[in-house]
Amino acid sequence: MTANPLRDPRDRRLPRVPEPCALVVFGITGDLARKKLLPAVYDLANRGLLPTNFALLGFARRDWGDTEFAELARDSARQHARTPWREEVWERLAGSVHFVQGSFDDDNAFDELAGALSELEGSHGIGGNAAFYLSIPPAMFPTVLKQMQRTGMAENTPGRWRRVVVEKPFGTDLASSRELNELVDSVFSAEDVFRIDHYLGKETVQNLMALRFANELFEPVWNGHHVDSVQITMAEDVGIGGRAGFYEETGAARDVLQNHLLQLLALTAMEEPVEFSAEEIRTEKLKVLRAISLPEDLGAYAVRGQYQPGWLAGQRAPGYRQEDGVDPGSTTETYAAVRLGVETRRWAGVPFYLRTGKRLPRRVTEIALVFKRAPHLPFADTDTQELGNNQLVVRVQPDEGVTLKFGSKVPGSVMEVRDVSMDFLYGEQFTESSPEAYERLLLDVLLGDATLFPRNAEVEASWAVIDPLEEFWRDTEPQPYRAGEWGPRAADEMLAAEGRRWRRP
Ligand code: BG6
Repeated sequence: MTANPLRDPRDRRLPRVPEPCALVVFGITGDLARKKLLPAVYDLANRGLLPTNFALLGFARRDWGDTEFAELARDSARQHARTPWREEVWERLAGSVHFVQGSFDDDNAFDELAGALSELEGSHGIGGNAAFYLSIPPAMFPTVLKQMQRTGMAENTPGRWRRVVVEKPFGTDLASSRELNELVDSVFSAEDVFRIDHYLGKETVQNLMALRFANELFEPVWNGHHVDSVQITMAEDVGIGGRAGFYEETGAARDVLQNHLLQLLALTAMEEPVEFSAEEIRTEKLKVLRAISLPEDLGAYAVRGQYQPGWLAGQRAPGYRQEDGVDPGSTTETYAAVRLGVETRRWAGVPFYLRTGKRLPRRVTEIALVFKRAPHLPFADTDTQELGNNQLVVRVQPDEGVTLKFGSKVPGSVMEVRDVSMDFLYGEQFTESSPEAYERLLLDVLLGDATLFPRNAEVEASWAVIDPLEEFWRDTEPQPYRAGEWGPRAADEMLAAEGRRWRRP
Protein backbone atom coordinates (compact mmCIF):
# COMPACT_ATOMS: atom_id res chain seq x y z
CA MET A 1 0.00 0.00 0.00
CA THR A 2 1.42 3.41 -0.89
CA ALA A 3 1.35 5.97 1.88
CA ASN A 4 -0.92 8.93 1.42
CA PRO A 5 1.53 11.84 1.09
CA LEU A 6 -0.85 14.05 3.06
CA ARG A 7 -0.56 11.67 5.99
CA ASP A 8 3.20 11.56 6.04
CA PRO A 9 4.18 12.34 9.65
CA ARG A 10 6.72 14.85 8.40
CA ASP A 11 3.89 16.84 6.83
CA ARG A 12 2.07 16.98 10.12
CA ARG A 13 5.16 18.40 11.74
CA LEU A 14 5.25 21.36 9.35
CA PRO A 15 4.79 24.50 11.40
CA ARG A 16 1.30 25.90 11.35
CA VAL A 17 1.14 29.51 10.15
CA PRO A 18 -1.98 31.58 10.87
CA GLU A 19 -4.09 33.18 8.15
CA PRO A 20 -3.42 36.86 7.37
CA CYS A 21 -4.47 38.83 10.43
CA ALA A 22 -3.91 41.72 12.82
CA LEU A 23 -3.07 41.59 16.51
CA VAL A 24 -4.44 44.53 18.47
CA VAL A 25 -2.99 45.03 21.94
CA PHE A 26 -4.71 47.24 24.53
CA GLY A 27 -2.38 48.28 27.32
CA ILE A 28 0.67 48.24 25.10
CA THR A 29 2.84 50.26 27.47
CA GLY A 30 2.26 47.92 30.42
CA ASP A 31 4.71 45.43 31.88
CA LEU A 32 3.18 42.34 30.32
CA ALA A 33 3.20 43.82 26.82
CA ARG A 34 6.79 44.98 27.09
CA LYS A 35 8.25 41.90 28.75
CA LYS A 36 6.19 39.12 27.19
CA LEU A 37 3.84 40.03 24.35
CA LEU A 38 6.02 42.21 22.10
CA PRO A 39 9.04 39.89 22.47
CA ALA A 40 6.78 36.92 21.69
CA VAL A 41 5.59 38.62 18.48
CA TYR A 42 9.21 39.13 17.44
CA ASP A 43 10.10 35.52 18.31
CA LEU A 44 7.21 34.24 16.20
CA ALA A 45 8.32 36.45 13.30
CA ASN A 46 11.87 35.20 13.73
CA ARG A 47 10.70 31.60 13.56
CA GLY A 48 8.70 32.33 10.39
CA LEU A 49 5.43 31.62 12.19
CA LEU A 50 3.61 34.86 11.43
CA PRO A 51 1.69 35.21 8.17
CA THR A 52 3.27 37.42 5.53
CA ASN A 53 0.23 39.67 5.78
CA PHE A 54 0.33 40.66 9.41
CA ALA A 55 -0.16 43.87 11.38
CA LEU A 56 0.49 44.71 15.02
CA LEU A 57 -1.61 47.52 16.43
CA GLY A 58 -0.97 49.17 19.76
CA PHE A 59 -3.62 51.18 21.54
CA ALA A 60 -2.75 53.42 24.51
CA ARG A 61 -3.28 56.85 25.98
CA ARG A 62 0.24 58.04 25.32
CA ASP A 63 0.72 60.80 22.81
CA TRP A 64 2.59 58.62 20.35
CA GLY A 65 2.72 57.84 16.67
CA ASP A 66 3.75 54.69 14.80
CA THR A 67 7.46 55.55 15.17
CA GLU A 68 7.44 55.78 18.97
CA PHE A 69 5.46 52.58 19.26
CA ALA A 70 7.83 50.81 16.87
CA GLU A 71 10.71 51.98 19.04
CA LEU A 72 9.09 50.55 22.18
CA ALA A 73 8.40 47.26 20.37
CA ARG A 74 11.97 47.10 19.10
CA ASP A 75 13.48 47.81 22.54
CA SER A 76 11.20 45.24 24.19
CA ALA A 77 12.08 42.61 21.63
CA ARG A 78 15.82 43.31 21.83
CA GLN A 79 15.75 43.11 25.59
CA HIS A 80 13.40 40.20 26.21
CA ALA A 81 13.13 38.06 23.08
CA ARG A 82 14.09 34.40 23.41
CA THR A 83 15.52 33.98 19.91
CA PRO A 84 18.60 35.75 18.54
CA TRP A 85 18.30 39.29 17.27
CA ARG A 86 18.09 39.60 13.49
CA GLU A 87 17.80 43.09 12.11
CA GLU A 88 16.16 41.94 8.86
CA VAL A 89 13.35 40.21 10.80
CA TRP A 90 12.72 43.38 12.75
CA GLU A 91 12.79 45.54 9.60
CA ARG A 92 10.07 43.39 8.05
CA LEU A 93 7.97 43.50 11.23
CA ALA A 94 8.50 47.23 11.75
CA GLY A 95 6.62 47.98 8.51
CA SER A 96 3.52 46.36 10.04
CA VAL A 97 3.52 48.15 13.39
CA HIS A 98 0.87 50.83 13.99
CA PHE A 99 -0.30 52.89 16.91
CA VAL A 100 -3.68 54.36 17.77
CA GLN A 101 -3.76 56.96 20.51
CA GLY A 102 -6.68 57.35 22.87
CA SER A 103 -8.31 56.52 26.16
CA PHE A 104 -10.77 53.69 26.60
CA ASP A 105 -13.78 55.98 26.96
CA ASP A 106 -12.88 57.95 23.85
CA ASP A 107 -15.38 57.10 21.08
CA ASN A 108 -13.27 58.86 18.43
CA ALA A 109 -10.21 56.78 19.25
CA PHE A 110 -12.17 53.55 18.85
CA ASP A 111 -13.68 54.78 15.58
CA GLU A 112 -10.13 55.46 14.48
CA LEU A 113 -9.05 51.97 15.52
CA ALA A 114 -11.93 50.40 13.59
CA GLY A 115 -10.95 52.59 10.62
CA ALA A 116 -7.30 51.55 10.91
CA LEU A 117 -8.31 47.88 10.85
CA SER A 118 -10.41 48.37 7.67
CA GLU A 119 -7.56 50.26 6.07
CA LEU A 120 -5.11 47.47 6.89
CA GLU A 121 -7.37 45.04 5.05
CA GLY A 122 -6.40 46.85 1.89
CA SER A 123 -2.86 47.97 2.64
CA HIS A 124 -1.66 44.82 4.46
CA GLY A 125 -4.13 42.25 3.12
CA ILE A 126 -5.09 41.08 6.62
CA GLY A 127 -8.44 39.82 5.34
CA GLY A 128 -10.39 41.46 8.15
CA ASN A 129 -9.12 38.95 10.73
CA ALA A 130 -8.11 40.35 14.10
CA ALA A 131 -7.35 39.25 17.65
CA PHE A 132 -7.78 41.80 20.45
CA TYR A 133 -5.53 41.33 23.45
CA LEU A 134 -6.85 42.91 26.67
CA SER A 135 -3.65 43.49 28.62
CA ILE A 136 -5.46 45.97 30.87
CA PRO A 137 -6.86 46.10 34.42
CA PRO A 138 -10.10 44.10 34.62
CA ALA A 139 -11.97 47.23 35.74
CA MET A 140 -11.46 48.54 32.20
CA PHE A 141 -12.88 45.45 30.46
CA PRO A 142 -16.51 46.63 30.31
CA THR A 143 -15.58 49.96 28.72
CA VAL A 144 -13.31 48.41 26.10
CA LEU A 145 -15.69 45.56 25.28
CA LYS A 146 -18.57 47.97 24.86
CA GLN A 147 -16.49 50.11 22.55
CA MET A 148 -15.70 47.06 20.45
CA GLN A 149 -19.36 46.19 20.31
CA ARG A 150 -20.39 49.74 19.40
CA THR A 151 -17.92 49.98 16.54
CA GLY A 152 -18.75 46.48 15.22
CA MET A 153 -15.12 45.44 15.73
CA ALA A 154 -16.12 42.31 17.62
CA GLU A 155 -18.31 40.97 14.83
CA ASN A 156 -17.45 37.79 13.01
CA THR A 157 -18.80 38.38 9.52
CA PRO A 158 -18.56 35.63 6.88
CA GLY A 159 -14.98 35.13 5.81
CA ARG A 160 -13.38 36.98 8.72
CA TRP A 161 -12.72 36.14 12.35
CA ARG A 162 -12.52 38.35 15.40
CA ARG A 163 -11.16 36.97 18.68
CA VAL A 164 -10.52 38.35 22.14
CA VAL A 165 -7.77 37.41 24.57
CA VAL A 166 -8.46 37.97 28.25
CA GLU A 167 -5.66 38.03 30.80
CA LYS A 168 -6.14 36.87 34.37
CA PRO A 169 -7.35 37.73 36.97
CA PHE A 170 -10.70 36.51 35.67
CA GLY A 171 -12.65 38.26 38.41
CA THR A 172 -11.96 38.20 42.12
CA ASP A 173 -14.49 35.57 43.17
CA LEU A 174 -17.17 33.35 41.69
CA ALA A 175 -19.78 36.10 41.42
CA SER A 176 -17.49 38.61 39.72
CA SER A 177 -16.06 35.99 37.35
CA ARG A 178 -19.61 35.06 36.29
CA GLU A 179 -20.33 38.71 35.65
CA LEU A 180 -17.14 39.05 33.62
CA ASN A 181 -17.86 35.89 31.65
CA GLU A 182 -21.37 37.08 30.85
CA LEU A 183 -20.02 40.40 29.70
CA VAL A 184 -17.36 38.89 27.44
CA ASP A 185 -19.83 36.34 26.09
CA SER A 186 -22.31 39.07 25.27
CA VAL A 187 -19.80 40.67 22.92
CA PHE A 188 -17.85 37.67 21.55
CA SER A 189 -19.08 34.15 20.93
CA ALA A 190 -17.67 31.54 23.32
CA GLU A 191 -15.31 29.96 20.75
CA ASP A 192 -13.73 33.35 20.07
CA VAL A 193 -12.78 34.02 23.71
CA PHE A 194 -9.27 32.97 24.75
CA ARG A 195 -8.54 33.14 28.49
CA ILE A 196 -4.82 33.12 29.10
CA ASP A 197 -3.35 30.99 31.85
CA HIS A 198 0.27 31.17 30.78
CA TYR A 199 1.20 28.03 32.75
CA LEU A 200 -0.67 25.99 30.14
CA GLY A 201 1.68 27.40 27.50
CA LYS A 202 4.76 26.00 29.27
CA GLU A 203 6.28 23.01 27.48
CA THR A 204 6.64 20.99 30.66
CA VAL A 205 2.99 21.46 31.51
CA GLN A 206 1.99 20.18 28.08
CA ASN A 207 4.45 17.35 28.57
CA LEU A 208 2.38 16.17 31.50
CA MET A 209 -0.19 14.99 28.97
CA ALA A 210 2.48 13.31 26.83
CA LEU A 211 3.96 11.61 29.89
CA ARG A 212 0.61 10.27 31.00
CA PHE A 213 -1.14 9.45 27.77
CA ALA A 214 1.66 8.52 25.37
CA ASN A 215 3.27 5.92 27.66
CA GLU A 216 2.26 2.63 29.16
CA LEU A 217 4.63 2.91 32.08
CA PHE A 218 3.05 5.57 34.28
CA GLU A 219 -0.71 5.46 33.87
CA PRO A 220 -1.28 2.07 35.57
CA VAL A 221 0.13 3.46 38.83
CA TRP A 222 -1.35 6.95 38.42
CA ASN A 223 -4.17 6.50 40.95
CA GLY A 224 -5.03 6.13 44.61
CA HIS A 225 -4.08 2.43 44.67
CA HIS A 226 -0.43 3.41 44.33
CA VAL A 227 -0.19 7.13 44.97
CA ASP A 228 -0.06 8.21 48.60
CA SER A 229 -0.30 11.95 47.97
CA VAL A 230 0.42 14.63 45.41
CA GLN A 231 2.38 17.82 46.07
CA ILE A 232 2.11 20.75 43.70
CA THR A 233 4.54 23.55 44.43
CA MET A 234 4.93 26.94 42.81
CA ALA A 235 7.68 28.73 44.71
CA GLU A 236 9.13 32.09 43.79
CA ASP A 237 12.21 33.74 45.25
CA VAL A 238 11.09 37.19 44.05
CA GLY A 239 8.85 39.50 46.05
CA ILE A 240 6.03 41.52 44.51
CA GLY A 241 8.23 43.78 42.38
CA GLY A 242 6.45 47.00 41.45
CA ARG A 243 3.00 45.42 41.65
CA ALA A 244 1.99 46.40 45.18
CA GLY A 245 -1.29 47.97 44.03
CA PHE A 246 -2.39 44.79 42.29
CA TYR A 247 -1.01 42.38 44.88
CA GLU A 248 -2.48 44.11 47.92
CA GLU A 249 -5.95 43.53 46.45
CA THR A 250 -5.19 40.02 45.25
CA GLY A 251 -2.91 37.90 47.45
CA ALA A 252 -1.34 34.54 46.62
CA ALA A 253 -4.54 32.47 46.51
CA ARG A 254 -6.29 34.68 43.97
CA ASP A 255 -3.11 35.45 42.06
CA VAL A 256 -1.89 31.93 41.32
CA LEU A 257 -3.70 29.23 43.33
CA GLN A 258 -7.03 29.93 41.60
CA ASN A 259 -5.52 29.55 38.15
CA HIS A 260 -2.00 28.12 37.67
CA LEU A 261 -2.04 25.62 40.54
CA LEU A 262 -5.58 24.40 40.00
CA GLN A 263 -4.89 23.97 36.29
CA LEU A 264 -1.81 21.89 37.15
CA LEU A 265 -3.95 19.84 39.51
CA ALA A 266 -6.58 19.36 36.79
CA LEU A 267 -4.01 18.10 34.26
CA THR A 268 -2.49 15.78 36.86
CA ALA A 269 -5.78 14.29 37.98
CA MET A 270 -7.88 14.23 34.79
CA GLU A 271 -8.90 11.15 32.85
CA GLU A 272 -7.59 10.55 29.35
CA PRO A 273 -9.44 12.78 26.89
CA VAL A 274 -11.29 11.03 24.06
CA GLU A 275 -9.07 12.94 21.65
CA PHE A 276 -6.44 15.64 21.90
CA SER A 277 -8.78 18.53 21.17
CA ALA A 278 -9.80 21.69 22.97
CA GLU A 279 -13.29 20.41 23.64
CA GLU A 280 -12.27 17.04 25.05
CA ILE A 281 -9.34 18.25 27.16
CA ARG A 282 -11.35 21.06 28.67
CA THR A 283 -14.19 18.64 29.41
CA GLU A 284 -11.86 16.34 31.36
CA LYS A 285 -10.24 19.20 33.26
CA LEU A 286 -13.63 20.60 34.20
CA LYS A 287 -14.71 17.26 35.67
CA VAL A 288 -11.69 17.33 37.99
CA LEU A 289 -12.22 20.95 39.03
CA ARG A 290 -15.83 20.14 39.87
CA ALA A 291 -14.74 17.09 41.87
CA ILE A 292 -12.37 19.04 44.13
CA SER A 293 -13.26 18.99 47.81
CA LEU A 294 -11.97 21.27 50.53
CA PRO A 295 -11.05 19.88 53.94
CA GLU A 296 -13.75 20.17 56.56
CA ASP A 297 -11.26 21.58 59.02
CA LEU A 298 -9.88 24.55 57.10
CA GLY A 299 -8.11 25.75 60.24
CA ALA A 300 -5.82 22.70 60.12
CA TYR A 301 -5.52 22.20 56.37
CA ALA A 302 -5.34 25.67 54.85
CA VAL A 303 -2.49 28.01 55.70
CA ARG A 304 -1.79 31.54 54.60
CA GLY A 305 1.42 33.38 55.30
CA GLN A 306 3.20 36.66 54.77
CA TYR A 307 6.94 37.17 54.45
CA GLN A 308 8.88 39.08 57.07
CA PRO A 309 12.32 40.61 56.58
CA GLY A 310 14.97 37.96 56.01
CA TRP A 311 17.90 36.87 53.89
CA LEU A 312 17.74 35.52 50.37
CA ALA A 313 20.78 34.51 48.31
CA GLY A 314 23.05 36.39 50.71
CA GLN A 315 21.05 39.61 50.44
CA ARG A 316 18.79 41.27 52.97
CA ALA A 317 15.19 41.12 51.82
CA PRO A 318 12.50 43.45 53.18
CA GLY A 319 9.29 42.11 54.66
CA TYR A 320 6.08 42.36 52.66
CA ARG A 321 4.77 45.19 54.84
CA GLN A 322 7.94 47.16 54.13
CA GLU A 323 7.61 46.88 50.34
CA ASP A 324 6.88 50.12 48.45
CA GLY A 325 3.17 50.75 48.17
CA VAL A 326 2.13 48.13 50.74
CA ASP A 327 0.00 49.07 53.72
CA PRO A 328 2.21 48.67 56.86
CA GLY A 329 -0.69 46.81 58.50
CA SER A 330 -1.51 44.71 55.43
CA THR A 331 -3.01 41.26 55.96
CA THR A 332 -2.61 40.17 52.32
CA GLU A 333 -1.08 36.70 52.03
CA THR A 334 2.10 36.08 50.06
CA TYR A 335 1.99 32.35 50.79
CA ALA A 336 -0.88 29.88 50.59
CA ALA A 337 -1.04 26.14 51.12
CA VAL A 338 -4.06 23.89 51.16
CA ARG A 339 -4.95 20.21 51.23
CA LEU A 340 -7.53 19.35 48.59
CA GLY A 341 -9.29 16.14 47.69
CA VAL A 342 -10.46 14.97 44.28
CA GLU A 343 -13.64 13.00 44.73
CA THR A 344 -13.37 10.50 41.90
CA ARG A 345 -12.81 6.74 41.87
CA ARG A 346 -9.21 7.31 40.77
CA TRP A 347 -8.31 9.75 43.54
CA ALA A 348 -10.68 9.22 46.49
CA GLY A 349 -8.64 9.48 49.70
CA VAL A 350 -5.49 10.91 48.08
CA PRO A 351 -4.56 14.35 49.44
CA PHE A 352 -3.42 16.95 46.93
CA TYR A 353 -1.22 19.44 48.78
CA LEU A 354 -0.87 22.73 46.93
CA ARG A 355 1.47 25.52 47.99
CA THR A 356 2.72 28.76 46.56
CA GLY A 357 4.69 31.65 47.96
CA LYS A 358 6.85 34.66 47.28
CA ARG A 359 10.35 35.12 48.71
CA LEU A 360 10.82 31.40 49.25
CA PRO A 361 14.40 30.07 48.98
CA ARG A 362 14.26 29.43 45.24
CA ARG A 363 12.15 29.62 42.13
CA VAL A 364 10.73 26.20 41.45
CA THR A 365 7.48 24.80 40.12
CA GLU A 366 6.91 21.06 40.27
CA ILE A 367 4.30 18.37 40.52
CA ALA A 368 5.33 15.42 42.67
CA LEU A 369 3.49 12.13 42.90
CA VAL A 370 4.54 10.50 46.14
CA PHE A 371 3.90 6.77 46.01
CA LYS A 372 2.90 4.45 48.83
CA ARG A 373 5.58 2.36 50.48
CA ALA A 374 6.03 -1.14 49.11
CA PRO A 375 3.52 -3.35 50.97
CA HIS A 376 6.27 -5.65 52.09
CA LEU A 377 10.06 -5.39 52.33
CA PRO A 378 12.04 -8.65 52.57
CA PHE A 379 15.02 -6.84 54.09
CA ALA A 380 16.06 -6.20 57.64
CA ASP A 381 14.70 -2.88 58.95
CA THR A 382 18.18 -1.49 59.26
CA ASP A 383 18.83 -2.15 55.54
CA THR A 384 16.06 0.18 54.41
CA GLN A 385 16.41 3.03 56.90
CA GLU A 386 17.43 5.38 54.10
CA LEU A 387 14.62 4.34 51.78
CA GLY A 388 11.87 6.92 51.27
CA ASN A 389 8.69 6.81 49.20
CA ASN A 390 9.10 6.43 45.46
CA GLN A 391 8.40 9.74 43.75
CA LEU A 392 7.73 10.90 40.24
CA VAL A 393 8.44 14.60 39.90
CA VAL A 394 7.51 16.69 36.89
CA ARG A 395 9.83 19.69 37.05
CA VAL A 396 7.91 22.51 35.38
CA GLN A 397 10.69 25.04 35.94
CA PRO A 398 13.61 25.61 36.10
CA ASP A 399 15.70 22.53 35.07
CA GLU A 400 12.69 21.41 33.02
CA GLY A 401 12.31 17.66 33.04
CA VAL A 402 11.15 14.65 35.00
CA THR A 403 12.76 12.87 37.96
CA LEU A 404 12.01 9.41 39.19
CA LYS A 405 13.09 8.65 42.72
CA PHE A 406 13.36 5.04 43.84
CA GLY A 407 15.38 2.73 46.10
CA SER A 408 18.59 1.09 44.96
CA LYS A 409 21.24 -1.08 46.53
CA VAL A 410 24.23 0.78 47.87
CA PRO A 411 27.39 -0.81 46.41
CA GLY A 412 29.16 -2.99 48.97
CA SER A 413 29.04 -6.36 50.62
CA VAL A 414 25.87 -5.74 52.64
CA MET A 415 22.29 -5.21 51.46
CA GLU A 416 21.61 -1.57 52.08
CA VAL A 417 18.88 0.21 50.09
CA ARG A 418 18.85 3.94 49.60
CA ASP A 419 17.00 6.48 47.41
CA VAL A 420 18.49 7.36 44.03
CA SER A 421 17.13 9.50 41.19
CA MET A 422 16.84 9.07 37.48
CA ASP A 423 16.59 12.34 35.59
CA PHE A 424 15.26 13.41 32.24
CA LEU A 425 16.38 16.92 31.40
CA TYR A 426 14.92 18.76 28.39
CA GLY A 427 18.21 20.55 27.87
CA GLU A 428 20.07 17.26 27.47
CA GLN A 429 17.63 15.32 25.31
CA PHE A 430 16.55 17.98 22.85
CA THR A 431 18.63 20.41 20.86
CA GLU A 432 15.86 22.94 20.28
CA SER A 433 15.00 25.24 23.18
CA SER A 434 11.42 25.51 24.38
CA PRO A 435 9.26 28.37 23.15
CA GLU A 436 8.16 30.87 25.78
CA ALA A 437 4.63 30.27 27.03
CA TYR A 438 3.36 33.51 25.49
CA GLU A 439 4.90 32.65 22.14
CA ARG A 440 2.96 29.41 22.00
CA LEU A 441 -0.26 30.91 23.30
CA LEU A 442 -0.24 33.94 20.99
CA LEU A 443 0.32 31.64 18.03
CA ASP A 444 -2.58 29.45 19.15
CA VAL A 445 -4.87 32.48 19.40
CA LEU A 446 -4.02 33.49 15.83
CA LEU A 447 -4.56 29.89 14.70
CA GLY A 448 -7.85 29.67 16.60
CA ASP A 449 -6.68 26.66 18.63
CA ALA A 450 -8.22 26.85 22.12
CA THR A 451 -6.73 23.63 23.52
CA LEU A 452 -4.45 25.43 26.00
CA PHE A 453 -7.00 27.99 27.17
CA PRO A 454 -9.37 27.36 30.10
CA ARG A 455 -13.06 27.51 29.37
CA ASN A 456 -15.26 29.85 31.44
CA ALA A 457 -16.81 26.92 33.33
CA GLU A 458 -13.29 25.93 34.47
CA VAL A 459 -12.66 29.43 35.73
CA GLU A 460 -15.93 29.39 37.65
CA ALA A 461 -15.30 25.92 39.10
CA SER A 462 -11.89 27.16 40.30
CA TRP A 463 -13.41 30.15 42.05
CA ALA A 464 -15.86 27.79 43.73
CA VAL A 465 -12.78 26.21 45.37
CA ILE A 466 -11.15 29.51 46.33
CA ASP A 467 -14.21 31.41 47.63
CA PRO A 468 -14.65 29.35 50.85
CA LEU A 469 -10.92 29.68 51.53
CA GLU A 470 -11.02 33.45 51.15
CA GLU A 471 -14.12 33.56 53.28
CA PHE A 472 -12.40 31.53 56.00
CA TRP A 473 -9.28 33.68 55.87
CA ARG A 474 -11.09 37.01 55.88
CA ASP A 475 -10.18 39.09 58.92
CA THR A 476 -7.45 36.64 59.96
CA GLU A 477 -3.79 37.52 60.22
CA PRO A 478 -1.49 35.62 57.86
CA GLN A 479 1.18 33.51 59.56
CA PRO A 480 4.64 35.01 59.43
CA TYR A 481 7.61 33.40 57.66
CA ARG A 482 11.01 34.90 57.09
CA ALA A 483 12.01 35.77 53.52
CA GLY A 484 14.26 32.91 52.44
CA GLU A 485 12.35 30.25 54.39
CA TRP A 486 9.99 27.62 52.94
CA GLY A 487 6.84 29.26 54.32
CA PRO A 488 5.21 29.41 57.77
CA ARG A 489 5.64 26.63 60.31
CA ALA A 490 1.90 25.90 60.19
CA ALA A 491 2.34 24.63 56.62
CA ASP A 492 4.87 22.03 57.81
CA GLU A 493 2.61 21.09 60.69
CA MET A 494 -0.27 20.57 58.28
CA LEU A 495 1.62 17.73 56.61
CA ALA A 496 3.32 16.48 59.75
CA ALA A 497 -0.09 15.92 61.34
CA GLU A 498 -0.64 13.26 58.68
CA GLY A 499 2.85 11.77 58.86
CA ARG A 500 4.07 13.51 55.70
CA ARG A 501 6.38 16.37 54.86
CA TRP A 502 6.89 18.82 52.06
CA ARG A 503 9.53 18.09 49.51
CA ARG A 504 12.50 20.46 49.66
CA PRO A 505 13.09 20.89 45.93
C1 BG6 B 1 1.72 35.43 37.32
C2 BG6 B 1 1.51 36.00 38.70
O1 BG6 B 1 0.53 34.90 36.82
O2 BG6 B 1 2.71 34.42 37.36
C3 BG6 B 1 2.83 36.49 39.28
O3 BG6 B 1 0.58 37.08 38.63
C4 BG6 B 1 3.89 35.42 39.21
O4 BG6 B 1 2.65 36.92 40.63
C5 BG6 B 1 3.98 34.86 37.78
O5 BG6 B 1 5.13 35.99 39.59
C6 BG6 B 1 4.94 33.71 37.70
O6 BG6 B 1 5.09 33.29 36.37
P1 BG6 B 1 6.35 32.44 35.92
O7 BG6 B 1 6.06 32.06 34.50
O8 BG6 B 1 7.55 33.32 36.05
O9 BG6 B 1 6.43 31.26 36.83
